[in-house]
Amino acid sequence: MISTTDVIDEGRAVRIRWRDGTEARFHAFWLYDNSPAPAIRDPGNGQRLITIDQVPLALRVTQAEAADNGVTVVFAGDAEPVHFDGAWLHRHIYDHAKPLTQTTLPEHTEPWDGELSHQLGVHRFDEITTDAQAKRAWLTDIRRWGVTRLSGMPVRPGAVAEVARLFGYVRETNYGPVFQVRAEVSPTNLAYTNAGLQAHTDNPYRDPVPTLQLLACLENSVDGGMSVVVDGFKAALVLADEAPDDFRLLRDHAARYEYAGQAGVRLTARRPMIEVGPDGMLGQIRFNSRSVAALTDIPYARMEAYYGAYRHFSEIIDRPQMQVAFRLAPGELFIVDNRRVLHARSTFGGAGNRLLEGCYADVDGLYSTLSALEAETGEQAA
Ligand code: FE2
Repeated sequence: MISTTDVIDEGRAVRIRWRDGTEARFHAFWLYDNSPAPAIRDPGNGQRLITIDQVPLALRVTQAEAADNGVTVVFAGDAEPVHFDGAWLHRHIYDHAKPLTQTTLPEHTEPWDGELSHQLGVHRFDEITTDAQAKRAWLTDIRRWGVTRLSGMPVRPGAVAEVARLFGYVRETNYGPVFQVRAEVSPTNLAYTNAGLQAHTDNPYRDPVPTLQLLACLENSVDGGMSVVVDGFKAALVLADEAPDDFRLLRDHAARYEYAGQAGVRLTARRPMIEVGPDGMLGQIRFNSRSVAALTDIPYARMEAYYGAYRHFSEIIDRPQMQVAFRLAPGELFIVDNRRVLHARSTFGGAGNRLLEGCYADVDGLYSTLSALEAETGEQAA
């Protein structure tokens, strides 16, 4: 797969050309830091055995040759050549110019709007629990869209946590390991709300926020009460397109969030509504008007513009064409990536009950399970 290798810049780097036409340079120190040699990386657990001060930046390569579907490199002062796998190097190319100012999406993600209704399938509990490819397809949806649906799960309290344990771990909070979202419609009892809730991300008053939310339906006999999801990344891209200044205001100033609705609980966080990495990659959306505290980190001169930007973002999120709506039946569940996808509930009425059970979990465990499944089940698209 590798056609040629050249030692360049007086040994400070190696240039590799693959048969597919790809060409990339790798610094000698970078190769040394990522060397698979047993003195550098533990062959058992794969962990690095050296620290950064043992990586000499002036290191030179004296020889680099294509061999065994990879490159064999000799570092100056080292007698033992080191073999780098060609596919590994190809996957870890960093020799490309990325524009630093452009807003980008994380790897493997795709932005979506209401059109996703036609593509977002419903996975089956009996299949994901018995077939690795089906489980992989289910988890791939979360990574790609930030939302996935499941049907045919047991209709019993606690089942939502069993689903979380299929890929990771429940994140327990002050609401408990599992919480119930009950709203009863009864003319004699107005205490339970049937009001709609604007699309929001959960718990922005935590830092870090729970990165996944699972909501399972135990009962839904009301009229309406649709579940709605909105891609916050897409909404941020729309905002950046329609009003770059509004996008920058929400990105560049910290908002504040709080929750103190229970005795002994005073949760607060100070984070921007749109969080972007230093290279322009979208990181996280926090949008929840019920939990925004008094905003005090925006200068007086920009506060009015900030509120304008906040309202603009809200108006984009509320657009019907941004939303995917579905009705959960008992035994159905959806998961959202709470860093990205907002969820909502439409107003409902009539007789009947609506009982959902939810739990939080974290995306690191899900991604780990998905990566292991990918390694196990091969490269074919799930
Ligand atoms: Fe919520």
